[in-house]
Amino acid sequence: MDGGCRGPRARRPGDSAAADGGAPPAWASVIGAAPARPCGWPPARWRAVVKVVIPGGTGQVGTILDRALTARGHDVVVLTRAPRGDRQVYWDGTTPGDWVREIDGSDVVINLAGRSVSCRYTAENLEAMMNSRVESARVVGDAIAAAARPPRVWLQMSTATIYAHRFDAANDERDGLLGGDEHDVPGYWAYSVRIARNWEAAQERAVTPHTRKVALRSAMVMSPDRGGVFDVLSWLVRLGLGGPVAGGRQYVSWIHDHDFVRVVQFLIEREDLAGAVNVAAPEPLPQREFIRHLRTAWRMPVGLPATSGMAEIGAFALRSDTELLLKSRRVVPGRLAEAGFTFDHPRWRAAAADLTSRRRRGGR
Ligand SMILES: NC(=O)c1ccc[n+]([C@@H]2O[C@H](COP(=O)([O-])OP(=O)(O)OC[C@H]3O[C@@H](n4cnc5c(N)ncnc54)[C@H](OP(=O)(O)O)[C@@H]3O)[C@@H](O)[C@H]2O)c1
Repeated sequence: MDGGCRGPRARRPGDSAAADGGAPPAWASVIGAAPARPCGWPPARWRAVVKVVIPGGTGQVGTILDRALTARGHDVVVLTRAPRGDRQVYWDGTTPGDWVREIDGSDVVINLAGRSVSCRYTAENLEAMMNSRVESARVVGDAIAAAARPPRVWLQMSTATIYAHRFDAANDERDGLLGGDEHDVPGYWAYSVRIARNWEAAQERAVTPHTRKVALRSAMVMSPDRGGVFDVLSWLVRLGLGGPVAGGRQYVSWIHDHDFVRVVQFLIEREDLAGAVNVAAPEPLPQREFIRHLRTAWRMPVGLPATSGMAEIGAFALRSDTELLLKSRRVVPGRLAEAGFTFDHPRWRAAAADLTSRRRRGGR
């Protein structure tokens, strides 16, 4: 894997100290081989094994990160309401507890906690979606602020849904339009934007002078794991239901799971980057093309088109919501591109082929 910018390789037992006298950062070993291009590494005294705490790390995204980071020898601790195994620690997502000891002395915190958005958007579910995100970000911020040895960086999950529903131009971090004021969409879509804004605001409010803060405005993370969004879309396609939805003009933003991990690594390494960062492949595409490429990857010749009414029935049957299908998410990675990050999987057609072939081989 080629990161957009690489640091020196991780220090291994027997290595001599780096020229600057500090241990080389262990993130190089997360990325992979020796550096192609040093990127101004600070003379930071990273430990050889990096401790990463992932609140809400039991879900789809957490599993991807846990797997990738653990495989590279890092010490990953997941905070969960239902711990299983010795690297999972109990927390409730709202109040301090023994879990704060995991944050104190860790190197990196990646907070993913939040009630799943794949549900009917009832008032009760919307409130749970809001509270679980804002409260968990607040309590993680409190734990970092109170830590004697705070982590170097806190990556806080956010979402590409923060941007406006639009077709005319792509949303980057500088010129993109935040959503909530669109007139031509159902009123409750504004609530999803409010969740995202409040989620980011909870991180911004935290006073963590020794910890860099980054908000990950992530598009859908596509991985071949069971239960993820790619799995659900693939299931529909293989049933012959992978056609344009409501005409299919709405843009789909996405990111391949390997690139997602690489972006996370990149943002951890790049100590000059803070604030909101779009985490999406550079070429979002209209849903009708997106689903056509997925059909091709599955060798499925037909895909039934659906009207928005049919999508509503389908979403109801799947206990989900049509906003996930109908909102035009045209989001591009402006800051990552400026910072020199290069994607291994920039185009959906090739990414879909890779994901389906991995899926055929049994996942991962
Ligand atoms: N998947 C994507 O493509 C994508 C894209 C953009 C943004 N995101 C956001 O990234 C985060 C992780 O995504 P994901 O797909 O991994 O989500 P997920 O599979 O639904 O997992 C989210 C995790 O949050 C925890 N959680 C759920 N309700 C909670 C509550 N009330 N209080 C505290 N923790 C709670 C759960 O952990 P326990 O049940 O173990 O406590 C769960 O493992 C989510 O916030 C999601 O909205 C995801």
